[in-house]
Amino acid sequence: MSRCAYVNGRYIPLRQAAVNVEDRGYQFADGVYEVCEVRDGRLVDERRHVDRLVRSLGELRIAMPMSRAALGAVLRETVQRNRVRDGIVYLQITRGVARRDHAFPAADTQPSVVVTARSLDRAANERVAADGIAVITVPENRWPRVDIKSVSLLPNVLAKQAARDAGAKEAWFVDAAGRVTEGSSTNAWIVTRDGKLVTRQTDHAILRGITRTVLLDLLKDQGLRLEERPFSVEEAYAAREAFVTSASQIVMPVVQIDGRPVGNGAPGLLASALRRDFHKYAESA
Ligand code: PDD
Repeated sequence: MSRCAYVNGRYIPLRQAAVNVEDRGYQFADGVYEVCEVRDGRLVDERRHVDRLVRSLGELRIAMPMSRAALGAVLRETVQRNRVRDGIVYLQITRGVARRDHAFPAADTQPSVVVTARSLDRAANERVAADGIAVITVPENRWPRVDIKSVSLLPNVLAKQAARDAGAKEAWFVDAAGRVTEGSSTNAWIVTRDGKLVTRQTDHAILRGITRTVLLDLLKDQGLRLEERPFSVEEAYAAREAFVTSASQIVMPVVQIDGRPVGNGAPGLLASALRRDFHKYAESA
């Protein structure tokens, strides 16, 4: 079965799917995106993802190109046409196509909308989670508005590749004060020796992850202790557990940071339990 993409109103075979070379996403990274988990054929936390999308668009003064209901229909149709049962749906909206000029184009320029969907191997992901992943730390070098989910991801791309080159799966950005902000495509968490969960507060220095938000509901419901504050790299080295969260990785245990084992070097009990319980708290439609 060949895959297809939604591009500006049409479903097109993936190999032919294309945008104009003067698309501002292509030339300026002038656009935003969302990645939503698909589980058992349903979108996970669609409402929260679309809320965040609307916020990102608003921050960049790009108009929402269609209603929320129409967008939801496109996401679902793309998932179905690609026969994705477990995987992700990717949505990108840019400021549209215009003659190259840094300033905004004419107000009637239509935003470009692209949606793709692909399957992920759920069993393989579970095997990765059973082993846990290694992370490295890298200096924070992104702009100070990473709360906007912009497609401008060059520092994230370079950080992820640095992780791969070091035999790790993720890179954690560390700010000038020596404190972890977040991963290149995940939010970062630790569990302290006395059992408190720590993750950075949502300011402009991290993306307000949807998985993170849902996990906060879970923690509250289960009466687990949480501190929303920055943590240092040293604190992470000394933590009992560490993990990362994202739509595609859910809760992924971290077993090594910069080559040092976290805790006893095996996935943490708490991280594993949170992973198991996550979808009871996520919305699925
Ligand atoms: N990444 N931080 C960054 C920098 C991210 O790119 C992501 C998501 C997250 C976690 O957000 P959420 O829980 O909403 O997925 C945090 C997506 C999955 C990606 O770029 O593929």
